[in-house]
Amino acid sequence: MRFDTVVRSGTVVTATDTFAADVGISGGRVSAIAARLPIENAGKVLDAAGRLVMPGGIDVHTHLDMPFGGTTSADDFETGTIAAAFGGTTTLIDFAIQYKGQSLRQAFDTWMKKAEGKAVADYAFHCIITDLGSAQLEEMGQLVREGVSSFKLFMAYPGVFMLDDASIFRAMGQAAKHGGLICMHAENGGAIDVIVQRALAEGKRAPKYHALTRPTTAEGEATARAIALAEMAGAPVYIVHLSCNEALEKVREARDRGLPAYAETCPQYLFLSIENFDVPGFEGAKYVFTPPLREKWHQEKLWQGLARDTLQVVSTDHCPFCFKEQKELGKDDFTKIPNGGPGIEHRLSLVYTGGVHGGHFSPNRFVELVSTAPARLFGLYPRKGTLAVGSDADIVVFDPDREETISARTHHMRVDYSMFEGIRVKGVPRTVLSRGQVIIDGGKFLGRRGAGQFLRRQTYAGV
Ligand code: URP
Ligand code: ZN
Ligand code: ZN
Repeated sequence: MRFDTVVRSGTVVTATDTFAADVGISGGRVSAIAARLPIENAGKVLDAAGRLVMPGGIDVHTHLDMPFGGTTSADDFETGTIAAAFGGTTTLIDFAIQYKGQSLRQAFDTWMKKAEGKAVADYAFHCIITDLGSAQLEEMGQLVREGVSSFKLFMAYPGVFMLDDASIFRAMGQAAKHGGLICMHAENGGAIDVIVQRALAEGKRAPKYHALTRPTTAEGEATARAIALAEMAGAPVYIVHLSCNEALEKVREARDRGLPAYAETCPQYLFLSIENFDVPGFEGAKYVFTPPLREKWHQEKLWQGLARDTLQVVSTDHCPFCFKEQKELGKDDFTKIPNGGPGIEHRLSLVYTGGVHGGHFSPNRFVELVSTAPARLFGLYPRKGTLAVGSDADIVVFDPDREETISARTHHMRVDYSMFEGIRVKGVPRTVLSRGQVIIDGGKFLGRRGAGQFLRRQTYAGV
């Protein structure tokens, strides 16, 4: 038996099992997993003694090279996938945006061009629908068949992205018919806009008012409405970037009733809070994203939600804007600060630190949250999301005891600040493989621009 690469003497961790094993790789795929594999003829041997060997992370919520808020997110598909790889993420699902008057195909083609020849690791797309006429409704099935099997809809950002309830309901029915999954940005955009206008009229213009004008009730209400619409349409629904207990409770109630309702949260809601706005001057703009940061007590509820499977996924909602020149667009008016924060690089380390070392869940649940459940929900499993014979050899060799401090001085995202500056993490990726190729080793990027492939995803199959 000859292997291109053997990952030797590590502890393999999947969503269900933990065991000592060697992992053999041939032709970019896992070809053997056994207590001891022959290494005499192996092309390469990677020593993983004392380390965890896990499936590569899957980040199902990123915005690379995205025009938004009068500017464009700072990472493109090259810099974004490199930063992701440093953090152990080997697959991402980004969003192709359909603007008003466009076909869904135009959105898909535009984002395929943005990624092609640039991504260093594999990628797929959800399609954001902002204008749903009968033609776009028809197109949904075609997109699902081409591997774009999920759609993001917005209940917020009126006049930009927001869809009315009738359109949402129609889209859900169509998604259900074709095996698609609706991802919902659940905030009551209409009510929020009224609160925002009142704040501006009162001269409240600082960054913290972005958070103070988007109450948790607006997220709870929209989450409940999204679930109710999905129930009526007979469709599954996936709530994106869930940030607060009110919304969590709505998902819990739906799941208790057996509905196919799912949700993700993001590291910013687990580690940061409204207190981050207590910084001098305009610095709070670094934390302007949507939904906003909440009071600190929500964090523990979210960790519990992850442990109890009310939440199935941790994604990043990576949407980076530099503080200089980009966030500064809103220096005199919080509504002009481009919404979004950088996080693609530190998801695994943060979730391992808070989740596993913090005593909330096991390493297996960690793998499930950052890799396996995302793969299952979004039609990538078992090619991605696990370590099994036949799976792509997307592998993270992870040191669970190594400590590092997150800082913009050392990160690889193309952005001039870190939301997590100064946070100490315990547990970091050391070696990362994408389809059998070592792309990160010992702090160095060894991959190749353009090596990432577009992934045609399967239809939603439930979890
Ligand atoms: O502030 C955020 N989250 N920006 C990205 C767009 C979105 O709503 O996910
Ligand atoms: Zn959103
Ligand atoms: Zn987003």
